[in-house]
Amino acid sequence: MSIGIIGSGGLGSNLARALANKGISATISNSRGPESLATLVGELGASISAGTVAEAAAADIVVVAVRWESLPGALEGLPDWNGRIVVDGTNPVEFLDPEAPKDPANPLADYGIRAIDLGARHSSEVFSEWVTGARVIKAFNHLDVSVLGEPAVGGGKRVLFYSGNDADAKAAVGALIEQAGFSGIDLGALDVGGPLTQLPFGALATHNFVKI
Ligand SMILES: NC(=O)c1ccc[n+]([C@@H]2O[C@H](COP(=O)([O-])OP(=O)(O)OC[C@H]3O[C@@H](n4cnc5c(N)ncnc54)[C@H](OP(=O)(O)O)[C@@H]3O)[C@@H](O)[C@H]2O)c1
Repeated sequence: MSIGIIGSGGLGSNLARALANKGISATISNSRGPESLATLVGELGASISAGTVAEAAAADIVVVAVRWESLPGALEGLPDWNGRIVVDGTNPVEFLDPEAPKDPANPLADYGIRAIDLGARHSSEVFSEWVTGARVIKAFNHLDVSVLGEPAVGGGKRVLFYSGNDADAKAAVGALIEQAGFSGIDLGALDVGGPLTQLPFGALATHNFVKI
């Protein structure tokens, strides 16, 4: 299955690195165009290529790795998803200006983020509305991305959670997670796994498990 990544920052570049480490092919994209990714793809090697957002979005599995506030800009106007798999790697947080004074009412100020209020809805429910017609899987969102380069750790495999409503789509993403060297755990439907793993308040968010 072909893989596309929209976003080449912390999540997108580290995911591409994890895939490159196993020789898995992917097309990575960002807002500035493929030329801006020459250094990254040169470093990652032949399995990772730079493309436009449209090229990455044409893959069988498309990982969305942009900040929450960038979703409209990244996803609006793309061709129909036609049942292809879209992985929601996002979290509903706003990244704060490190120079700005800390808001004492924000319990996450020390982490440099603020939770985005989505009311009673979980973020993948809202995310799904940006990719109508896609089979949405939540994955790659619950850990600091710096660990993605090290799937084998402590004599075991680092655990990545995933969830979604389509069994075949979930199996495809689960297989990719295993192929990349991680141990995948299927948390069930999107309404179950999404809230459990989403930052900042999901019960499994930031928990870094290793399957021995
Ligand atoms: N950082 C983490 O540890 C971590 C862990 C798990 C989940 N996440 C989630 O992953 C998402 C991305 O976080 P990040 O840390 O990777 O952010 P980041 O470092 O700021 O990277 C964001 C990327 O999105 C791209 N982008 C922005 N607007 C775009 C557009 N209109 N079209 C295409 N690409 C666009 C940017 O492109 P340019 O480079 O061209 O500006 C950049 O490459 C967030 O939702 C975050 O909550 C992050």
